[in-house]
Amino acid sequence: MKICSVVGARPQFIKAAPLSREIRKRFEEVLIHTGQHYDDSLSRVFFQEMDIPEPDYNLEIGSFSHGKQTGLMMIGIEEILGKEKPDMVIVYGDTNSTLAAALVAVKLHCPVGHVEAGLRSFNRAMPEEINRVLADRASDFLFCPTQTAVDNLEREGITRGCYMTGDVMYDALKYYRRRLDDDSNLLNEFDLAPGGYYLLTVHRAENTDNPENLRAIIETVAGLDMPVVFPVHPRTRNVMEKMGLELSGMIRPIDPVGYLQMMALESSAKKILTDSGGVQKEAYMLGVPCVTLRDETEWVETVEEGWNLLVGADRKAIIEAVETLDPPSERKDLFGDGCAAEKISRIIADSSVATL
Ligand code: UD1
Ligand code: UDP
Repeated sequence: MKICSVVGARPQFIKAAPLSREIRKRFEEVLIHTGQHYDDSLSRVFFQEMDIPEPDYNLEIGSFSHGKQTGLMMIGIEEILGKEKPDMVIVYGDTNSTLAAALVAVKLHCPVGHVEAGLRSFNRAMPEEINRVLADRASDFLFCPTQTAVDNLEREGITRGCYMTGDVMYDALKYYRRRLDDDSNLLNEFDLAPGGYYLLTVHRAENTDNPENLRAIIETVAGLDMPVVFPVHPRTRNVMEKMGLELSGMIRPIDPVGYLQMMALESSAKKILTDSGGVQKEAYMLGVPCVTLRDETEWVETVEEGWNLLVGADRKAIIEAVETLDPPSERKDLFGDGCAAEKISRIIADSSVATL
């Protein structure tokens, strides 16, 4: 059986790392990189550090408006699927690469497996929300990371093909943490003491495309009581340059880092401030309190458990959350048992697509 896996953006490389390893134990995998992310620090570093196989195809699409980027990806993916004739296509998460691959595959009558299915923010202004709703609709296998995701799909009338597998990002964290322990010099490189800094990431459109939000976040964190390490996403760097927004005060900007450095930075941070989906989850997994710079989240369990606070881009709320967020000592296993990839691979093996 041949599976085409389609990735294109940073979080997809991280999600594909554990699943690709499992898939290749049972099936033939053809890996397609759309080229949505192309800087070495957003792409190559993850393939190298996480031993992700070299993509069989790289479409090198690059950055465009949503329609043009998605359309160009669809043209490229359609050609490859026509040639490779896979038995199944696997897509990850909620980016334009996810939507492009899911749409092309379903129209070619090729079964689609969606990893991280069922997530909802219920905010249709988010490009990711549209991408994930449509990808779920196009999918035959919906691999849900949480029970909330299963419930969301059920409310939309999608019950066939839904599997609660746990989160492949937890698999990744468990697997690569072993390497992290051998690499304790990472913090020295940035001259940081464990617990002596905050970690910030900002890249979501609702913050970068709204100058007031971005200014509020940056000016507020600049005045916090400890250094704020800030690996700057290129999208955010570009906007800040255009706005003439200075990174001053306690902010320590750095280039985007690889997965192992990011895990080291996350696990030793006093608190994490972020608008990233993946970083919110990792903060919980690592037991670091998280202040989320959004008004809603797909990872509602982390908020319910008291480890995550939603503050949007509100200056007062950000400061208050950083000062007062004090999670309980207990943490439930919200994201499965670290064997999500193995479960996904077994579900595929036991399904009718495997016997085609
Ligand atoms: C994309 C995803 C988002 C995901 C994020 C992960 C969509 C709609 N958005 O957002 O869901 O959370 O990836 O990081 O799919 N750029 C570079 N170098 C690169 C890539 C991008 O400089 O390698 C710059 C370009 O100026 C580009 C901008 O970043 O226009 C945005 O890139 P794009 O891939 O469109 O969206 P992201 O904001 O990265
Ligand atoms: N990440 C990383 N280096 C960075 C910033 C983030 O390795 O400089 C990792 C992070 O640990 C998480 C993933 O990238 O595993 C999240 O991706 P991102 O925030 O870009 O997208 P989202 O999860 O919001 O879609």
